[in-house]
Amino acid sequence: MDQAAKKQAVAAAAIEDIRGQFVSGAIIGVGTGSTANAFIDLLAQHKQQFDGAVASSQATADRLSSHGIRVLDLNDAGTLAVYVDGADEADPDLNLIKGGGGALTREKIVAAASERFVCIVDDSKCVATLGDYPLPIEVLPMARELVMRALVALGGQPKVREGFTTDNGNLIVDTAALDLRDPPAMERALNDLVGAVCNGLFALRPADALLVAGTSGVANYMRGDR
Ligand code: 5RP
Repeated sequence: MDQAAKKQAVAAAAIEDIRGQFVSGAIIGVGTGSTANAFIDLLAQHKQQFDGAVASSQATADRLSSHGIRVLDLNDAGTLAVYVDGADEADPDLNLIKGGGGALTREKIVAAASERFVCIVDDSKCVATLGDYPLPIEVLPMARELVMRALVALGGQPKVREGFTTDNGNLIVDTAALDLRDPPAMERALNDLVGAVCNGLFALRPADALLVAGTSGVANYMRGDR
C-alpha cells in the first residue's frame, strides 16, 4: 500500500471513528494537509447529517465549501466535540509535531476548542522521540531575528521558510535540533518566546486518539495505550 492509499485508509477510519457526531447540530473541527483533505472528501458524503465545520486554515475552509459543507467561525461554534487532523510526527504518548503546512496556530486553537482530538497519520509519521522533523514555529515578521536568536539559545537551528506567509500574515521558522525528549517542557519554553505566535508542538494538548495506517490496515491508539 503506497502513502496515498494509507492516507485514504486512515481518513476512512476517521469517518468510522466520528460516526457518532453525524447528528443534527454537530459541528466538526477539521485540520489541514493532504491527510485532512482525504478526510474532508469522505466527510462530504455525510454533509446532510451534521450542521457544519470549523476549519483550521483557509485552504481547508475552501475545500469544505467546495463540497457544500457549511464553514463556521470558531467564535460562533462553541466547544467542538471532535477535531480531526494529520501530523508530521507522532510519538507513543500521542505528542505531535504539526505545522508542515504552516497552519499550526489555527490548528492548535481548534484543537484547544475541541473535547476530543483524533489524529490521523500513515505509519511514516510514527517516531519513538519527536524531533527528526524540524519544528515549525509561527513568528511575527518584526520579531524574526529576536526569535531566531532565542531559538539558537535553546539549542535549535532555525531557518525561515522561504516564500511562505501564514494565513495570519506571519512567517514560519522551521527549527531543527531542539531537544524534544520532554515535549511538554519544550512547548512551555517555546510558549514563552516573545514574538513567536505559536509552535507546532502538541504536547500540552496532545491527541486523544491516534489512527495509524500501515500496510496491514489501520491501528487505533488511545492516549496511554503505548
Ligand atoms: C499542517 C499540518 C499537517 O497536519 C501536517 O503537515 C501533515 O500533513 P499531511 O497530512 O499532508 O502529511 O500540521 O499545518
